[in-house]
Amino acid sequence: VIILYALRTIIPMIGQVVTQKNTLSNFFPSYEQVNRIKDSAVEQIQKTGELAFKSLGDSIELKGVCFSYPNKEPVLKNIDATIKKGKMTAFVGESGAGKSTIVDLLIGFNEPDNGIVTMDGIPLFDYDINSFRQRIGYVPQDCILFNTTIRDNLLWSKDDASESDIVEACKLANAHDFIKAMPEGYNTIVGDRGVQLSGGQRQRVALSRAILRKPELLILDEATSSLDSQSEILIQEAIERIAHQTTIVAIAHRLSTIARADWIYVIAGGEVVEQGTYRDLINLNGSFKNMAGSQGLVH
Ligand SMILES: Nc1ncnc2c1ncn2[C@@H]1O[C@H](COP(=O)(O)OP(=O)(O)OP(=O)(O)O)[C@@H](O)[C@H]1O
Ligand SMILES: [Mg+2]
Repeated sequence: VIILYALRTIIPMIGQVVTQKNTLSNFFPSYEQVNRIKDSAVEQIQKTGELAFKSLGDSIELKGVCFSYPNKEPVLKNIDATIKKGKMTAFVGESGAGKSTIVDLLIGFNEPDNGIVTMDGIPLFDYDINSFRQRIGYVPQDCILFNTTIRDNLLWSKDDASESDIVEACKLANAHDFIKAMPEGYNTIVGDRGVQLSGGQRQRVALSRAILRKPELLILDEATSSLDSQSEILIQEAIERIAHQTTIVAIAHRLSTIARADWIYVIAGGEVVEQGTYRDLINLNGSFKNMAGSQGLVH
């Protein structure tokens, strides 16, 4: 079970290995290789059912979800939350509140100690978890770009995507224009052998990669690092555009990102302490309002 908890750390590590080793030798895992490592890690530990996941009918629900990492204080104490099809649901809260842990439970990386995650009323682990994951676009908090071309980075999520699929995804994610402006375009190598992308550009490539598979559920775990205001606007704009096309779970540090969310959960001390729309929460005059105040969004 230990491997289960390590997964979130292993995957970014593969990225680091790629960056560090490639100047030395021909060590260069392709995305197929990485996928295989990932799949075998998942196979060894993954609890899974038989039911093939096709599409979300109504909602994903967390009911009374409790979770602790081994030998640690509980991280989630009693979380009730609903992810409605076609809507944007946001989770906010201080660093360490348990937001990324909620995502791990939603995608079946971890299993609640108590309580349950259901999808259209059926326990998540009754589904063939891989059939579900294939339909998720996930932009993790520390998104990895491999030290290869932008195109290959995009194909990592869907290796049979056509050129027009790629361009369409990148336009949606506001990445196409900056990619096109580079001398090698989609063939530009990113990382230390090529162009260093800015934080905002990396996020937009990662977002393109996630939406390339036309996900049934798009999960965005916003990076903590600050972005320049232009990147922030471009990403926010992209998210709002995608929001019309799919179901979104957004974890946000910058509350401006989720101003248009349909429902926001504020997590603190392992519990949902406030919930509602952005307006509701500002009017509530509680911790969300304080967060917004500290970000200069209200006065
Ligand atoms: N693999 C792990 N093993 C043990 N403890 C962990 C592990 N991952 C997270 N934690 C702990 O669980 C708590 C919640 O972590 P989590 O990553 O879910 O927070 P978060 O809300 O996403 O924070 P941030 O905003 O900084 O990303 C923290 O106290 C963290 O130290
Ligand atoms: Mg996190």
